[in-house]
Amino acid sequence: MELRTVWWEDESVCLIDQRKLPHTQEVVRCGELNQVAYAIRSMQVRGAPAIGCTAAYGMALVARRSQATDPATLLDELQQAKATLDAQRPTAVNLAWATTRMLQRATATAVEGVAAIKAALLAEADAIFAEDLAMCHAIGDHGAPLIPPRGNVLTHCNAGGLATAGYGTALAPIRTAFAQGRPVHVFVDETRPFLQGARLTAWELLQAGIPQTLITDNMAAFMMQRGLIDCVIVGADRIAANGDVANKIGTYGLAVLAHYHQIPFYVAAPYSTIDLATASGADIPIEERDPAEVTHIAGIAIAPAGVPAAHPAFDVTPRELVTAIITERGVLRPPFGDALRQLASVR
Ligand code: MRU
Repeated sequence: MELRTVWWEDESVCLIDQRKLPHTQEVVRCGELNQVAYAIRSMQVRGAPAIGCTAAYGMALVARRSQATDPATLLDELQQAKATLDAQRPTAVNLAWATTRMLQRATATAVEGVAAIKAALLAEADAIFAEDLAMCHAIGDHGAPLIPPRGNVLTHCNAGGLATAGYGTALAPIRTAFAQGRPVHVFVDETRPFLQGARLTAWELLQAGIPQTLITDNMAAFMMQRGLIDCVIVGADRIAANGDVANKIGTYGLAVLAHYHQIPFYVAAPYSTIDLATASGADIPIEERDPAEVTHIAGIAIAPAGVPAAHPAFDVTPRELVTAIITERGVLRPPFGDALRQLASVR
């Protein structure tokens, strides 16, 4: 059974609280926009495609709770809701991509009246969710053949079912190769400071029965030096027009290591992660999170009180270090600038 990360139920946006995994599976019910915004900001839901789906349902929620009697007022409310949602996590472009699509659908439906907008926005959020799930499976189909025969893959953060509508992006080629009966073994980076690898990827792979070994982030170099890693597959929060990739902090270091050890470094992401309006990685806004996520683990201090700590949530991997980008529309090879532009016309 595929895991549900976000869904619509009883006029509310429902989520699995990813901060509580793997210990408990608690459902968060958001009946107000501020609850959806908080869920995204606090990382009750996280992963670029999953927050895009959540924001889409958040826009549907705002429409359905609105007391507006005319389309223009409702469109104003939706515009404000979009600004609120987009501000929660600036790096993952899927968030603004989804709210923009929702606003466009509302605008296109405005002539039919308020009730039509309310119905259309729920249908649009459902469509974004369904398309995301289908995209993940297509990424699996395109990416599985890239996994070398011995099948030792290193991944970082969680780019699995929890980070998407289901099935995942970086985990999709791994899941598909495993389903095909091929040898697969995943080295899971624990991913400090939020531990998405140790808490979420390890849990997902365990559920799927896929062989894995959990490593701390500082073990990756040694594993590569020992010849234990055949390829690296990571997700992305935003891919700039030139092919530079923003992803979870630590990704850039892995790409440098993979290059040094001559190991293929793959990025798996849906088309909604590609931002042709952002020229290069230097233009991607990098989210800074609360340093308390670095000085504490699960609320327990691991550093002396008052020590200054840095916390950029993402880094940028230059395109030169990326072997290929796996999308639902096919596998892109360098030069990525041309390949990404051409992808817009591929369906
Ligand atoms: O801060 P997070 O947990 O939302 O960061 C998630 C990542 O960096 C993922 O690799 C990325 O969103 C791709 S998820 C399919």
